[in-house]
Amino acid sequence: MKETSLQCLLILISLLSCTTHQARLTVSPSSSQFFIRDFVSLSCEEDDSSAGWTLRRNTSKQQRTQCGDGWGKPAGSSCDINVFPLDSGVYWCESREGPISNMVNLTVTGGSVILQSPVLPVMEGDDVTLLCRTKTTPSNLPAAFYKDGSLIRKQPTGHMTIQHVSRSDEGLYKCDISGHGESPSSWITVTGEHTTTPPPTSTPPPTSTPPPDFSCVPLSLFSLVLTVSVISSVCVLVLLVLLVLLVRRQVQRKTENFKPEPDVVYSSLK
Ligand SMILES: *[C@@H]1O[C@H](CO)[C@@H](O)[C@H](O)[C@H]1NC(C)=O
Ligand SMILES: *[C@@H]1O[C@H](CO)[C@@H](O)[C@H](O)[C@H]1NC(C)=O
Repeated sequence: MKETSLQCLLILISLLSCTTHQARLTVSPSSSQFFIRDFVSLSCEEDDSSAGWTLRRNTSKQQRTQCGDGWGKPAGSSCDINVFPLDSGVYWCESREGPISNMVNLTVTGGSVILQSPVLPVMEGDDVTLLCRTKTTPSNLPAAFYKDGSLIRKQPTGHMTIQHVSRSDEGLYKCDISGHGESPSSWITVTGEHTTTPPPTSTPPPTSTPPPDFSCVPLSLFSLVLTVSVISSVCVLVLLVLLVLLVRRQVQRKTENFKPEPDVVYSSLK
């Protein structure tokens, strides 16, 4: 009897903990490109502070090294880096249990121009502003912006806003400031999370809905609440079924010795 209760409890706990193993990697300042010696702080933001997330990275030289292990300075839940070109690479947060966060690509240039583009995926329908800047001069010089190798726009002030981004805006962007040089290229990823109505007929049928995963794309509050409540309801249901089975078995075995479940405190209801 006690063992079975314990099993119920363990099942409940493990189901509930599904919702807590979520982390999000954020980059401050929010950019995917940096100049040499820029100060960058990377944070693993988590729902459950006891989960123990580690920031890791792959660069061209080393794979899966963690913050403090030859690079970066751990500072609480963040990792601070004064970046150099060899810090270019893909970064992510990882917990001991396995789940990983979103990944971000950071590029550090020894050149004199960077493109400041969103480091996290952007939502379909949002406006996105790209900034082309030099390290020293004011950040409003005329700049040319390229997507997948082709010139898309020349802007007199170095800013370019893409309104209502769609999947077709996804691609490899770079910019150029005449007399200063060209920036490295960065990917801009567009996700469809904001869409509430089914997309036009060109996309595959409903089966294309991504499966629930524990990678850590930013959840809107609504979907977070929805997820938590769905999982909680499943937990409660499972627990109820187990309890019913347990009580039935107990009643069958020793009817005369039947003991009720541990006392529930009713006083709080009054
Ligand atoms: C990092 O490198 C490891 C080992 O080469 C590889 O298995 C893994 O897929 C890489 N991760 C990313 C995010 O590129
Ligand atoms: C990182 O960059 C590589 C190559 O430039 C690209 O294939 C990959 O999709 C990027 N990953 C992210 C998370 O942006």
